[in-house]
Amino acid sequence: IRKCDLQGLWRNELGSNMTLSALDAAGTFSGSYHTAVAATNKQILVSPLQGAQQHPGDKGQPTFGFTVHWQFADSITAFVGQCFVDRRGKETLETTWLLREEVPSRRDIWKATRVGTSIFTRVK
Ligand code: BTN
Repeated sequence: IRKCDLQGLWRNELGSNMTLSALDAAGTFSGSYHTAVAATNKQILVSPLQGAQQHPGDKGQPTFGFTVHWQFADSITAFVGQCFVDRRGKETLETTWLLREEVPSRRDIWKATRVGTSIFTRVK
């Protein structure tokens, strides 16, 4: 099985683009996220992300997580996932995310979190 490399430019089914940096020795990485959609009508801004990957030295199909700190909203999204690579070497990031928005009071917590799945394929 080939190695799955998180570094590079990725796009998901919504048309959102993200760039992930190389891993450091501890397996942490950074990047930027340009979402194609938003929960509000505010103007979308490219936003930073921070993450970590398991077993950075190994080959294989590693698990990872990252958070996106939105620059145009009070919300945060956390993604967790795994990088898969097929026999042809095509890589896919299979993720699940939670989007937490800021709500004015505890009475509104019931509507504060969205959940979804997302598949990223490599652009570059
Ligand atoms: C917000 O509207 O509160 C910030 C932007 C949220 C974009 C979400 S994160 C999960 C989903 N996947 C994307 O690529 N964009 C949306």
